[in-house]
Amino acid sequence: MTRQQIRSYLEFYRDLGIDAIYNQRPAKEPGLPAESSAVLPTFAPPGDTLQSILADMGDCRRCKLCEGRRTIVFGSGNERASLVFVGEGPGADEDEQGLPFVGRAGQLLTQMIDNTAAKEGIPIRRSDVYICNVVKCRPPENRTPLPDEMEICGQFLFRQLMAIKPKAICALGSTAMKALLNTKDGITKSRGKWHKWRKIPVMVTYHPSYLLRQYNQVARREAWEDLKTLLHFVYD
Ligand code: URA
Repeated sequence: MTRQQIRSYLEFYRDLGIDAIYNQRPAKEPGLPAESSAVLPTFAPPGDTLQSILADMGDCRRCKLCEGRRTIVFGSGNERASLVFVGEGPGADEDEQGLPFVGRAGQLLTQMIDNTAAKEGIPIRRSDVYICNVVKCRPPENRTPLPDEMEICGQFLFRQLMAIKPKAICALGSTAMKALLNTKDGITKSRGKWHKWRKIPVMVTYHPSYLLRQYNQVARREAWEDLKTLLHFVYD
C-alpha cells in the first residue's frame, strides 16, 4: 500500500469514529515475529443510513478521482429497494447531473428494467430499485477505475449495500463484478449465474455500455435473460 492509500484508509476509519487500528496479528509460533497485515475490513457504524454515508463522504478527497470530478454521484432510487444495481462509475452526463446512469447507457438500463418488468408482469419500474456505482467520481476520459480507487470508494459502496440490505444485487459489468466478488473469472463466464456478496445473492450481467455496441446482439439477448431471472427471483 502507498502512503496515500494508508492515509485514505485511516481517514475513512476516523470518519467512522474508530481512532485506533492495530496492524498486527500474533506470531504463528512462539519466537517468530508478529505478522503484519494491511487488510482492513469494512466497518459500518450501527444504524448506518444512506444519509450518514453521504455525510461521511462529504467533499471526498480520499483518492485522486476527486481532482477531475464536478459532482459526487452517490446513487439514486428507492432507499428501501429489494434490488440494487451496481455500475462502474459516473460518465460525463452523470458527473454533470449528479445522478447515476442518466446518459445513453443509463437510458438503455431504464428501458431494460421497465420493459422487462412490464413484459414479465412484474409491477416495478426503475424508480423502485436503487442504482449506484463502485466509484462515485468520474474517472478521467471514462477510464476503468484503478484498484486503489475501487478499494477506497468500494468501502462506501459496501456501506450502501449493508444499509439497504436488498434481496439481490445486480453487478453490471466486470468492474462491479470484481468489486463485489472475489473472482478471477471473466464476465462471459460469470454472467447469468448467481454469486454471493456477504450472503446477498448477486447476479452478474453485461454493462449497458457494452450492449450499446451494435455488434452485441447476442449479448443483449443474454442480458435480457439475466434480468428476467433476477426480476423473478426478487419480485415473484
Ligand atoms: N456507466 C456506469 O457504470 N455508471 C453510470 O452511472 C453511468 C455509466
